[in-house]
Amino acid sequence: MAATSPRKILVTSALPYANGPLHLGHMLEQVQTDIWVRFQASRGHDCLYVCADDAHGTAIMLAAEKLGISPEQHIDNMREAHQQDSAGFLIDFANFHSTHSDENRYWSERIYQSLKDNDHIARREIVQAFDPEKQLFLADRFIKGTCPRCKTEDQYGDNCEACGATYSPAELIDPVSAISGATPVDRESTHFFFKLPEYEAMLKEWLDSDTLQPQVANKLREWTDAGLQEWDISRDAPYFGFEIPGEPGKFFYVWLDAPIGYIASFQNYCERTGHEFDAFWLPGGDTELYHFIGKDIINFHGLFWPAMLHSAGLRTPTAIFVHGFLTVNGTKMSKSRGTFINADTYLEHLDAEYLRYYFAAKLGNSVDDIDLNLEDFVQRVNSDVVGKIVNIASRCAGFLRKSFDNRLTDSCTEAELVNDFIAAGDGIAELYEGREFNKAIREIVALADRANQYIDDKKPWVLAKQEGAESQVHETCSVGVNLFRVLMTYLKPVLPGMAEKAEAFLNCSLDWIDLDGPLLGHQLNKFKPLLTRIEAKQVEAMVEASRQPDTPVPAEHPQVQDEEDDTIQFDDFAKVDLRIAEIVAADHVEGADKLLRLTLSLGDRQKQVFAGIKSAYRPEDLVGKLTVMVANLAPRKMRFGISEGMVLAAGPGGEELYLLEPHPGAKPGMQVK
Ligand code: 2FM
Ligand code: ZN
Repeated sequence: MAATSPRKILVTSALPYANGPLHLGHMLEQVQTDIWVRFQASRGHDCLYVCADDAHGTAIMLAAEKLGISPEQHIDNMREAHQQDSAGFLIDFANFHSTHSDENRYWSERIYQSLKDNDHIARREIVQAFDPEKQLFLADRFIKGTCPRCKTEDQYGDNCEACGATYSPAELIDPVSAISGATPVDRESTHFFFKLPEYEAMLKEWLDSDTLQPQVANKLREWTDAGLQEWDISRDAPYFGFEIPGEPGKFFYVWLDAPIGYIASFQNYCERTGHEFDAFWLPGGDTELYHFIGKDIINFHGLFWPAMLHSAGLRTPTAIFVHGFLTVNGTKMSKSRGTFINADTYLEHLDAEYLRYYFAAKLGNSVDDIDLNLEDFVQRVNSDVVGKIVNIASRCAGFLRKSFDNRLTDSCTEAELVNDFIAAGDGIAELYEGREFNKAIREIVALADRANQYIDDKKPWVLAKQEGAESQVHETCSVGVNLFRVLMTYLKPVLPGMAEKAEAFLNCSLDWIDLDGPLLGHQLNKFKPLLTRIEAKQVEAMVEASRQPDTPVPAEHPQVQDEEDDTIQFDDFAKVDLRIAEIVAADHVEGADKLLRLTLSLGDRQKQVFAGIKSAYRPEDLVGKLTVMVANLAPRKMRFGISEGMVLAAGPGGEELYLLEPHPGAKPGMQVK
């Protein structure tokens, strides 16, 4: 049951860049957010989900120029496409706005002014690469040249894709502007900086306040421990964004006004609908604010954003919910393999609810990556949703229509069973609330198994042929439909489209707060198919349609990483010294929720390795086992000590992580070739 007074909740997901189509990585996040929001609404709370396009920056300006249209036209086109894709995935935004909006300009200027008034803005000269032909300053990724380490040509200004070296663009050999091909020159310019170090105490308190998942707080502590740096929040003209008031030719950096877009979108919603605004953004209210984001942007949301809000006298988020990356078939999404799938391509071939269900079945509340295994996807959706859930209704509906005018019995012979299903709702609700959708789905499917077992035991198809057994058929099918109603109520946040069809059939709305007992003497409507099976060929067609063998990798969105050429040379492989290691000790690490400290023997020497395998292994089960380690990895300083190598394990993560173990006969220290 919902709390007596509804909670007032505002929810956001990351604002997609308006420079490319949405892909399944974006949809993972929007689906996760939408399920949580729909769940809250079903429990009777006031929960609003706002989002927007992130419309500023050099990349968008250059893309528009290439297309021969204005940046405004470009972002309008993108926004329309994004909204269409999200609607296709049944994402229920209260509002979808743009960071290139009056509201966002107002809030960006207002927050900047507060930071300035509080003396939290510094101004100083910096030297940066400048494209003399294009007359613009070049961010690192717009400079290319030869890697100073391995001498591979055509590498980006910050790191080498061939040897993995990281460097500053000034170190590149023969640097050129990736935009015009001209040789960049150094040029000085005034920039504005947000004095983040002044927030060290506030941020440390925030990181210790349980607002963030432990892994996220730990990661952010690496930044605070290393000493916070001032954050450059300005960019020089030409730039597509908001000019800084009183500073001609200087613009707010896209990442300054992007999160402010959350406020702007909500304000736009409030202006359209008359909804209250202040209570959600001023401190001290009884409202809740949550941001769903990917793990690649935690510094912006977990450090800069709360500091900015605090300085501007606004409230900080109640929590930030971080998810992992999406992989497909166990690896990064790849255009050449056809697994870099755009949202619209998916929708051309498959029903959005299949993927909503699959994501829900895999999503937990950690930052572990989520794998979309396409075979498992087909199998799981067909077996769980079509084979188990839909099956309950379709097995009962025919008998109820043929012999009982689509009317349920006046009393329920299995009230206990139905009430058991309803009682399970509290636990399931807790799992939804804590974003453990995978566990909620497991519970729901276990209930579906029980419902099917009940029908199997009663065998209405046999009873229907027996003289005088009508009332038993009626009872069994009425119970079956009542169980289906409870399950569909639990699944409605995940499968809103199917739930709508189920509501039409059940002739009642499916809200958690209405579940207080079986429907009795209730009139049903005609049963219509709820969801059909996925055919493997639909998935194959989608992959084929996504395959683009010759397309270069765009640096679109870091939530998924594309990988075009994943081959390495033999020499690269030969650099890795793989050796058999014996685990002579394994210990928990205080304060680390993923790591175990392993002491590994290589025969003649020992190494200490911190391995992220705690979710899959108990330390005592590891001691004495042989495994494979990278023995020549440069030692890395971690929060808990030095890690002198790494052990090899396979699997998506969490409980499914398997250390590699050699065949009998291998000895510690042997080289793996
Ligand atoms: O990483 C991204 O795709 C950014 N456009 C997310 C912005 S989220 C928020 F801060 F606006
Ligand atoms: Zn290199």
